[in-house]
Amino acid sequence: MIKVKRFLISLLLFIFLFPFSLSPKNPMREKWLQKAITRSEVQLSAAIKQFNDSNKNPRTYENGKVILVSYKDWTSGFFPGSLWYLFELTGDKKFENAAKHFTTFVSNAQFRTNTHDLGFILNCSYGNGFRITQNPEYKTVLINGANSLMRRFNSKVGCIKSWDFGNWQYPVIIDNMMNLEFLMNVGKMTNNSLMMNAAISHSNKTMKNHFRSDFSCFHLVDYDSISGNVLHKQTVQGFSDNSSWARGQSWALYGFTMMYRETGKVEYLHQAEKIASFLLNHPRLPKDKIPYWDYDAPNIPNEPRDVSAATIMASALIELCSFSNNSEYFNTAALILKNLSSDKYLAKKGENGLFILKHSTGNYPAKSEVDVPLSYADYYFLEALQRYIEYKK
Ligand code: GLY
Repeated sequence: MIKVKRFLISLLLFIFLFPFSLSPKNPMREKWLQKAITRSEVQLSAAIKQFNDSNKNPRTYENGKVILVSYKDWTSGFFPGSLWYLFELTGDKKFENAAKHFTTFVSNAQFRTNTHDLGFILNCSYGNGFRITQNPEYKTVLINGANSLMRRFNSKVGCIKSWDFGNWQYPVIIDNMMNLEFLMNVGKMTNNSLMMNAAISHSNKTMKNHFRSDFSCFHLVDYDSISGNVLHKQTVQGFSDNSSWARGQSWALYGFTMMYRETGKVEYLHQAEKIASFLLNHPRLPKDKIPYWDYDAPNIPNEPRDVSAATIMASALIELCSFSNNSEYFNTAALILKNLSSDKYLAKKGENGLFILKHSTGNYPAKSEVDVPLSYADYYFLEALQRYIEYKK
């Protein structure tokens, strides 16, 4: 009789506790959130094993092949950065060890002076690594890298030069806002006001010259390097010069939100709010809030999406909500993250070249990386999940 009673009590306990046992560490996490984190663990665990000895980091998966890139590629810091975030999201040391390992793959970027992408490459990898571990060796790499990036600042133009290729004189792309976080981070770390002032100057010039009256932005502004005057405004990766390339709008939203966090300058907050208003009220932002690759692409709704634009926007909106207290920002970000955690966007175990998310677009006009996974879509997804959890605490 006692045995039967014990059995019944155990059965009741099992039935009651079973739903929670699905997520032993965080029983109260929403199902979609736990699914997203678990799937990320599965995919990146396999990727760690597969790419361990490559000395390169995964960028995308096209035509059945994973494309690995060295420290020379602008996307090379995102995979180690994703591992740092996954370590924070799970507490699993395996991801910390892997993050340390893959971070070293981009170390040589610290002395490069021929690219503006050092923020993407070094701040996402070494920057997150230093934030989490305080390892002084990481700090040295960050300082070297930020000094290399400063070599690209021209005080007459007031901006960092983006590209050394092409026929432009002094091209500055909206993406460059993202590299300013690196300068602010190292500027504060080393009390270097020149670095912080360069980031502020670049933001001010971008605010003045990159935006249209509706707060959408051009992709590229070319400056005269002697007079500092604007020569020309255009797109490179968007549909047309006057269109709104989706990822560019997300870089802008993230960039000005971040610069408000870093400086407290209220004009950056207002800029971010106006960009957010343009995006969230856009008639061609789909119901699930995952943008098409360009808001003005001619065949919407029959155009590829850009999940990377969605994850960057979601991450930025959560941060912006913490400053503006506008619940629409958080609710939209939550909707994006929830939708990305559905089977439409989230990769199945072992598929998608071991990336987490499907359906990003790298460079549509160049017919490159269309409707594929991208390492930066995954990186900002994990960052946004981490911000979502922190915001809800
Ligand atoms: N920074 C390059 C891109 O967003 O495609």
